[in-house]
Amino acid sequence: MSDNVMSDSRFGRIFGIMLAAMAVLTVVLIIIANIIGSTLKDEMASLKDQAKKNELIARIEPIGKIAFGEPAETAQPEAAPAPEAQAEAVSGEATYNSACAMCHGQGIAGAPKFADAGAWNDRIAKGTDTLYTNAIQGFKGAAGYMPAKGGNAGLSDDQVKAAVDYIVDNIK
Ligand code: HEC
Repeated sequence: MSDNVMSDSRFGRIFGIMLAAMAVLTVVLIIIANIIGSTLKDEMASLKDQAKKNELIARIEPIGKIAFGEPAETAQPEAAPAPEAQAEAVSGEATYNSACAMCHGQGIAGAPKFADAGAWNDRIAKGTDTLYTNAIQGFKGAAGYMPAKGGNAGLSDDQVKAAVDYIVDNIK
């Protein structure tokens, strides 16, 4: 028990040592902080050099790029007509196969099945224009939900109409 009780003088000594230790630690930390600070400064300086270098490279670069740019630009107009021709050539069958068959092919989720007259005759009786509109804008009927353009917003109205025509033409 008496070991746990400190005399005032002993406490004073330990407290003094602790204060001194803290003072030393403070000085050491300041020195370390200074060292880190100066290395950081050096690094920042070299970073700035790097940035200047990059800037210089960027300023020189376009001269080289113009030389390469011209052949690419002349090549572009040649390549452009291809997708256009493709879009025009898109058939109802191709659109149907890529955007509609997943549901209508097997009659998934209530979709009227391809070439199934029983599933389509009542719909066709509504008129082709109604079918176009419902296929383009989407349609919620008793059988299920037909998403607008079959869920493929990238299709043009004409492509969807062609796909409807393809479906209707194949009813037996
Ligand atoms: C996610 C499944 C799904 C896809 C994909 C889909 N359909 Fe449908 N479609 C349906 C369903 C379900 C119905 C039936 C809705 C009803 O009558 O309740 C339907 C109905 C229709 C109808 C009849 C609408 C009417 O007025 O009775 C047409 C026409 C049609 N789809 C065309 C298309 C075309 C064209 C595509 C492709 C561009 C397509 N569908 C893609 C599910 C789909």
